[in-house]
Amino acid sequence: MPNFALAERVASLPPYLFAAIDKAKAEVAAQGVDIISLGIGDPDLPTPEFIIDALYEAAKNPANHQYPSYTGMMRFREAVARWYAQRFDVEGLDPATEVITLIGSKEGIGHLPWAFINPGDLALICPPCYPVYATGVKFAGGEVQELPLLEENDYLPDLDGLDEETWNRAKMIFVNYPGNPTAATATTEFYARLVEKAKATNTIVVSDLAYSEIYYDAAQKPPSILAVPGAKDVAIEFHSLSKTYNMTGWRIAMAVGNEQLINGLGKIKENVDSGAFNAVQEAGIAALEQGEPHVEKARAIYKERRDATCAALSAAGIEHRVPEASVFVWARVPGNKTSAEFVTHLLKKTGVVVTPGSGFGECGEGYFRISLTVDTDRLKEAVSRISQL
Ligand code: MLT
Repeated sequence: MPNFALAERVASLPPYLFAAIDKAKAEVAAQGVDIISLGIGDPDLPTPEFIIDALYEAAKNPANHQYPSYTGMMRFREAVARWYAQRFDVEGLDPATEVITLIGSKEGIGHLPWAFINPGDLALICPPCYPVYATGVKFAGGEVQELPLLEENDYLPDLDGLDEETWNRAKMIFVNYPGNPTAATATTEFYARLVEKAKATNTIVVSDLAYSEIYYDAAQKPPSILAVPGAKDVAIEFHSLSKTYNMTGWRIAMAVGNEQLINGLGKIKENVDSGAFNAVQEAGIAALEQGEPHVEKARAIYKERRDATCAALSAAGIEHRVPEASVFVWARVPGNKTSAEFVTHLLKKTGVVVTPGSGFGECGEGYFRISLTVDTDRLKEAVSRISQL
């Protein structure tokens, strides 16, 4: 019999967190259990109708049926540059060289290391964090060092906690605010310190800004790293239309920032994919240009859910961090179980699906993540099931 062993760097990966959760959920659902699914940050609210209409119109145009541009439709990239100026005061982005369309930000984040990491190069990740940061680096043959995010630092990395030699070796650092899974936010001052450090050590800064639009205090909107003067010298930032406009299934996102980094990512992408469907990009333009009133409504819905969930968790005596942004609540595992044991037990006994903190790195142990992606009554029901357990 032939033996098709996986390549070592693939074989060494754990199962993809969210695929493993889906599998466990499906097994329990097959037994007829009433599942409350809070395991993935996948908005349950529908994509606004005007975005669907824009897709429909664009899909009827035969000009959109052929291969799209590898780097994305210029009009989509121009809409991104305008949105960055309006939302983040990041003026003057050149859509031709400083913006690229992505088929969801996951693929962009996963592909970027291929362009800049040589085998043996070092990248810094800040766990607990999205598993794809480390995976992309490992696929490129790089090594990963952790700069853990601790509760006592409100989940910001201690930039001075690493020695100079490590900073000088680090080719890339990934940061993510509002954070998944912790929901922590960063200030422009933090980004300014990071940019300064990165410039001094020739380190690429990768900012994942997927959750910037789901904030709960309009006076404290999450900033972009690119608002820091000089950030474009070292940074690339990813934003996705997935969470902002309830478009996870559409696969549309963008990377913005340093021209060399955009160009390197583009070089990988043109070799491995053929771009995002033009009609989806047309719908993306409509979303970026007219979506704000809809995002405003979604924020109000998430805020009600957040408040109800946090109140129920407090009443049940479950420690948690009240998020100021994102669709997640980061909570302490009650009792003595590991986060994986707790999550498995919870699913089997109650049908409630949450994410184990350890799925985001070892320093996520002791915590679990709740996604606010079902309605308020179901969230209350879920916390009630958790507390009864
Ligand atoms: C999450 O639940 O962490 C995200 O939805 C996963 C993703 O964006 O790919």
